[in-house]
Amino acid sequence: MDIRETILAMDIDMRQDRRDFLRNLGILGGGLLAATSPWLSIFADAGDTTGEKLKLGIIGPGSRGRFLMKFLVGNSKVDIVAIADVYQPSIEAALEIVPNAKVYRDYRKLLEDKRVQAVLVATPLNKHFQIVMDAMEAGKHVYCEKTIGYDMDQCKKMYDKHIETGVVFFTGQQRLFDPRYIKVMQMVHDGMFGEITKVRSWWNRNADWRRDVPEPHLEKFINWRLYKESSKGLMTELACHQLQVGTWAIGKLPTRVMGHGSINYWKDGREVYDNVSTLYVFVDGRKMEWGSDIANKFYGLEEQILGSKGTVELERGKYFFEEIPPQPAFIQMLNEWQSDIFGDTAFAGTSWMAETAKPNIGKYILGKKPEADGSSLLTEAFVEAAICGRQPSGILEEGYYASILCLWGHEAITSGQILDFPSEYCIDYDVYDTSTSKTEHL
Ligand SMILES: NC(=O)c1ccc[n+]([C@@H]2O[C@H](COP(=O)([O-])OP(=O)(O)OC[C@H]3O[C@@H](n4cnc5c(N)ncnc54)[C@H](O)[C@@H]3O)[C@@H](O)[C@H]2O)c1
Repeated sequence: MDIRETILAMDIDMRQDRRDFLRNLGILGGGLLAATSPWLSIFADAGDTTGEKLKLGIIGPGSRGRFLMKFLVGNSKVDIVAIADVYQPSIEAALEIVPNAKVYRDYRKLLEDKRVQAVLVATPLNKHFQIVMDAMEAGKHVYCEKTIGYDMDQCKKMYDKHIETGVVFFTGQQRLFDPRYIKVMQMVHDGMFGEITKVRSWWNRNADWRRDVPEPHLEKFINWRLYKESSKGLMTELACHQLQVGTWAIGKLPTRVMGHGSINYWKDGREVYDNVSTLYVFVDGRKMEWGSDIANKFYGLEEQILGSKGTVELERGKYFFEEIPPQPAFIQMLNEWQSDIFGDTAFAGTSWMAETAKPNIGKYILGKKPEADGSSLLTEAFVEAAICGRQPSGILEEGYYASILCLWGHEAITSGQILDFPSEYCIDYDVYDTSTSKTEHL
């Protein structure tokens, strides 16, 4: 089997033993996967940690924190010994998952707890920085939810603190551990979809993004996503995930960004946009578009990788080659029937008919509809890394740049300017050649 056949034949099952999982992906033998998703190497050492238990503290066990705790309590290598939160309902809900955990109301006290070796930080965005800096200073390994910092300066300081202290630092970019994404990135990097000229992503909803507030004075605390002091809205909450997929596919960082944001529909006192469009441009002119509109959900969310030989739609979990194999008679008949109708209609010229999208049902990347994301594997990887005290290559760098990209895009929106990549936020990461950021654009 050549590499293409091997990739296409891979049916990655997340319930497999991790070494089998890696063997199927090809990582134990090295090769393309190691270059595409090097952070998976953390599982190659899984055998060495058998019988170990990581003493973990959860800071901010709200909605996301508790979601991740459900995976963590199922992991025999983890003991959640402590939680810290400032909101009693969150503490009570977390205690239903970990009834024996010690409760702290001040996260600094949790950091003083000598048993705690690592922390998972899932507080609102504006609280990440101080907590993560203090945790690293206290020598704890850190998993911090995305977006890591409230601005690019904070992100860089967090990264530098990790380098200075040497503690493990993971960010909440679960797509990096989603077998669907891992498999497709190998296909993309192997050239199976030809030259990738554009990545187009969006995240649409028809919902106000509000949470019920038990008492009016808690509005900004509960609905922190809607206010500027605690959030940068759709860019930091949603774009962060999808922009990382784009740079992972193209293998470069964009060098320019422009964008626009507005509040068009949910004029309910919120301060963050409900309608955002951004365009990231690479040095050779390739593009990454990202947008979000939360007053229409028809197109839902998607990450499309557009190549000269094919297309990937990652949220649907499918890929499509440009050359469609012979179609079943029924679809052919439907096409011919539609052509006949429009062909006879005066306003429907034939010039564009030939270019309307043809039915192409594509193939599921994993052979079936996607069922889960990479969150469970991401937490497992963090546990392995924290136990070994070993930072796997690429995991932080991908998360760091994902945060930088969404915050940089947010700056373009708020300034109304076309911005060049801020080279002061470049870090040491071979995969993205940042030297090109100074090259003239095509
Ligand atoms: N990776 C993902 O797919 C994903 C999904 C959802 C949320 N998130 C991220 O997770 C984080 C939390 O989001 P959420 O939806 O769980 O928010 P949330 O409001 O449900 O939970 C935040 C928790 O932090 C607590 N908190 C606030 N200030 C605190 C402090 N100073 N010390 C300790 N606890 C404090 C709150 O009381 C609450 O329990 C955000 O950064 C968000 O972007 C990531």
